[in-house]
Amino acid sequence: MVREWDPRTASSAEIASLLDTLNAVLAADLPQDPPWREGSLREYLAEVMPGERRISWVAQQESADDGTPGAILGQVHVLLLGNIGVLEVLVHPAVRRNGLGRDLVLRAARRVYQEGFESIGVEVVGDTPAVGFYESLGFSQEYVETRSVLDLSSVDWSELGSMSTEVVAGYQVQFHPGGPPDELMEAYARSKAEIRDIEDGELRPSSYDPQRLRDSLDCLHRRGMTPYIVLALHERTGEVAGLTEVVVPAQHPTRADQYDTIVVQDHRGHGIDRAIKARMLLELRSAEPQLTEVQTWNAQANEVMLKVNAELGYRTDRDWCEYSVDVADLVHRLDATR
Ligand SMILES: CC(C)(COP(=O)(O)OP(=O)(O)OC[C@H]1O[C@@H](n2cnc3c(N)ncnc32)[C@H](O)[C@@H]1OP(=O)(O)O)[C@@H](O)C(=O)NCCC(=O)NCCS
Repeated sequence: MVREWDPRTASSAEIASLLDTLNAVLAADLPQDPPWREGSLREYLAEVMPGERRISWVAQQESADDGTPGAILGQVHVLLLGNIGVLEVLVHPAVRRNGLGRDLVLRAARRVYQEGFESIGVEVVGDTPAVGFYESLGFSQEYVETRSVLDLSSVDWSELGSMSTEVVAGYQVQFHPGGPPDELMEAYARSKAEIRDIEDGELRPSSYDPQRLRDSLDCLHRRGMTPYIVLALHERTGEVAGLTEVVVPAQHPTRADQYDTIVVQDHRGHGIDRAIKARMLLELRSAEPQLTEVQTWNAQANEVMLKVNAELGYRTDRDWCEYSVDVADLVHRLDATR
């Protein structure tokens, strides 16, 4: 049975059952990824940025004769933002290839269509069944990134210590757990605006103005995700010349996610990129002692960033693709094949 589902009011048993399915999916499709934990999973699924909405459905087995609720074997949610719906679908490996994934997508697509949105986007992990699935539904590939993973046990910490100090004079490198301090919020948002062009077309929205940045940090905290920031302050102008952001999610606290790393155009060529990333790793070592890995996503054309990451010890992992589809076409196609 597929039904609309609200993580805010779901029972703890449902959240636990969804977590089991998510971990079965990871074990089947991404066996090197750490399993997820229950830490703030409800909040992770429920909390959104102001102006955004996430709508979810689950596929649940029938209750047992003694009234025990059935397991949640599939889930879809769609995040409505701007003029796009960003979709995520999960089907337990034990019940795949029975049409459940297609049914879940149809539920979400109909709603996105009714709400007047034009397109649906989805992140598809390379070399998993999701590629064939979305291509069979008519989604087309828009963009490919490479995920890389750094195993912290392979890091040469003394080498990293030297890298972290190799910045020319005139810049001050600062570490800010939780987010940038309020007095730097405007300068920080200005630096983030630098990558607006690069980020266009990506599903992970960045925050370019101070209020959106504050909202985005609040949202991360509510979802159980702790942000850490290292920035390079240009001492003469007070501008943020470079920044790097890492988030440690309560749902998989041994593997952190690298978010944006930016060096503002005028400040390139001074070693800031390598120094701020090295400093971040050194700080995380004491701030998050359980951390064993950091993962990052880069455009394949971003050779500079890929080179810096390789110097830090990152190993490329797999493709991470964005697909999209016109909602009306998708709904008509799926309705026609039922
Ligand atoms: C992708 C996924 C949702 C598909 O669910 P499903 O219930 O097996 O999908 P369906 O049975 O509705 O498949 C519909 C069509 O998609 C295509 N398809 C599905 N799985 C496929 C595969 N492994 N290879 C090729 N095509 C596939 C087929 O055309 C299929 O139709 P058919 O079975 O009649 O040939 C499921 O594999 C899944 O949950 N994957 C993980 C998704 C994810 O995002 N993971 C993120 C963390 S890894």
